[in-house]
Amino acid sequence: MLRAVLLATLAAAAAAAGDGVTSPRYMATCYYGTWAVYRPGLGKFDIEDFNPYLCTHGIYGFAGLDPNTNQIKSLDPWNDLYDNYGKGGFIRFTNLKKLNPNFKAILAIGGWNEGSEKYSSMAADASKRATFIQSCVQFLKTYNFDGLDMDWEYPAERGGQPIDKTDYALLIKELKTAFEPEGLLLSAAVGPGKTTIDESYDLDIMAQYLDIFNVMAYDYHGAFDPFTGHVAPLYLSPQDLEPGHEAYQYFSVNFTVNYYIEGGVPPHKIAMGIPLYGRGFTLADRNQHGLYAPMSGGMPACPYTRTAGVCGFNEICVYLDEGGWTSVRDPDQKAIYSYKDLLWVGYDDLESINLKTQYIKDMDLGGSMVWSVETDDFRGLCGFGTTNPLMNAIWTSLNGDIPQPTPGPEPTGQPTDTPATTEPPAPTAPPSHICKNPGLNPDPDRTCSPVFYACVWNGDHWEVTQEECANGTVFDATASTCIWSYESDECDTAGHRGLRA
Ligand SMILES: *[C@@H]1O[C@H](CO)[C@@H](O)[C@H](O)[C@H]1NC(C)=O
Ligand SMILES: *[C@@H]1O[C@H](CO)[C@@H](O)[C@H](O)[C@H]1NC(C)=O
Repeated sequence: MLRAVLLATLAAAAAAAGDGVTSPRYMATCYYGTWAVYRPGLGKFDIEDFNPYLCTHGIYGFAGLDPNTNQIKSLDPWNDLYDNYGKGGFIRFTNLKKLNPNFKAILAIGGWNEGSEKYSSMAADASKRATFIQSCVQFLKTYNFDGLDMDWEYPAERGGQPIDKTDYALLIKELKTAFEPEGLLLSAAVGPGKTTIDESYDLDIMAQYLDIFNVMAYDYHGAFDPFTGHVAPLYLSPQDLEPGHEAYQYFSVNFTVNYYIEGGVPPHKIAMGIPLYGRGFTLADRNQHGLYAPMSGGMPACPYTRTAGVCGFNEICVYLDEGGWTSVRDPDQKAIYSYKDLLWVGYDDLESINLKTQYIKDMDLGGSMVWSVETDDFRGLCGFGTTNPLMNAIWTSLNGDIPQPTPGPEPTGQPTDTPATTEPPAPTAPPSHICKNPGLNPDPDRTCSPVFYACVWNGDHWEVTQEECANGTVFDATASTCIWSYESDECDTAGHRGLRA
């Protein structure tokens, strides 16, 4: 394929340029939510759209936990594996290291959709932990990953037990002990909220054994609240401290980062999360458009992410380009939001990101994290003069020039528009009641259902694994992922549920 030729060329160039590369001063960890491969049109993001020069660590989200065997497993074998004419996402992702030898490929396990209960019962039992850890070492080596990112959301919450806090610390310690001799990295995605940090994490122990804390410093406010608020304010607004707003008094990036440091996490292990998406609202009254303005629901779904209340920066920037928006930089929160008629959306732009990277430097943190690469303006459609303008800004501000492969010689003898090799055609798969296509399929019998199926056609019959979205979320056929029931057009729900209990 053309891509294969380009990749081979770049790889050769990277290998030639390999020596004498100074490592970047700051980490830039980057999550990739692989279900973006199911997005339509210009929203579709596949592994070859991932630029490994803008990230020190790329994190592939997500693998899951098999509750019967306590082993790590692929949640979407068709997309992740090569078996049965699958797309081989794991190997294609770790092959990004051939482009940039300094790039580390990490596999994340868990995430919001996997819930907490399975992890709670695995972590509670020494022999189950041992089985899990052994399976992870094996799995990471099979697919050439450099490490694991634990995304248990969250110990002691969402169906977990109070003892999870102790068990999770033990799991982290045992994972690291097994990883060390193998040269594998261990990181974790950790929550932003004070309650979660208090209930879920034994920071003393985690700080000893984790290489990186990917701090999810976002989702402080959203359509799960009754009023407008910014997804990721750097600081508090005085309004957050007014009577009646007690629930929001700790909801800033600055609070979260300081709380981890006070809890014993060395600043250099912290990768501070920056959202490449916004959270939006439909205002109840077009004349009330500040913070804490009444709202009637989430902002309508955007064309690619297709989830009410959340839009990628690549979608927001297109909207803004259409004009008619009023943008406000909140002087206290150091955050930007924009409104137009009844729409209101908070997000990060180049200016607010510069304040955040400056903060990372001032606080002497390890670096940045982004959720997630597939919603930057990765096609360069918004007139920033570059693709990935937000990730570019983060890298440049933290580490200076973006490393580039020195261009290698043009491949000869192959017109570039002709496939270099032909792959065998995938066997035709007749749709079944459950499996209409390889990959993830919704519950065929029920809309607004948490059940979905991972399908792989093995040439003879469908291999089907039933999966279930975490409590409160449903598998939305349009979004091809688990989303809050109130965010799904398939569900007829009036109320809103908070992210935090
Ligand atoms: C699922 O959510 C409902 C409603 O919030 C709650 O009553 C129930 O206990 C939850 N179940 C689990 C296993 O967390
Ligand atoms: C940042 O957080 C620290 C610790 O919570 C606090 O002392 C400081 O005042 C905060 N900075 C701002 C500008 O709010």
